[in-house]
Amino acid sequence: TYVVTEACIKCKYTDCVEVCPVDCFYEGDNMLVIHPEECIDCGVCEPECPADAIKADTEPGLEKWLVLNARFAAVWPNISNKKEPPADAEEFQGAEGKFDQFFS
Ligand code: SF4
Ligand code: F3S
Repeated sequence: TYVVTEACIKCKYTDCVEVCPVDCFYEGDNMLVIHPEECIDCGVCEPECPADAIKADTEPGLEKWLVLNARFAAVWPNISNKKEPPADAEEFQGAEGKFDQFFS
């Protein structure tokens, strides 16, 4: 599966949802997640993210993000249409330590 990681937090560009053939993105206040059981591993969303937030779970160190994606995909609403990013999205692009903003 592919997973959405920290770089999405507060950026939420939503380019990813437009290309997913199985509409397996789910939307929280500050980031999106991928439902790991719905993702068909096609990989087309990965290069679409301007924040480089989408990773294959074969990359090392993503266990925490895989758990977070699975947990919140089960409860957040589905999103399949691109929408405007937050007005301050660019300020957060590439910022460190964004996990602190997850619940803000
Ligand atoms: Fe959707 Fe493919 Fe990305 Fe999985 S890898 S989330 S199926 S676009
Ligand atoms: Fe997030 Fe990138 Fe999609 S910032 S909403 S994973 S395009």
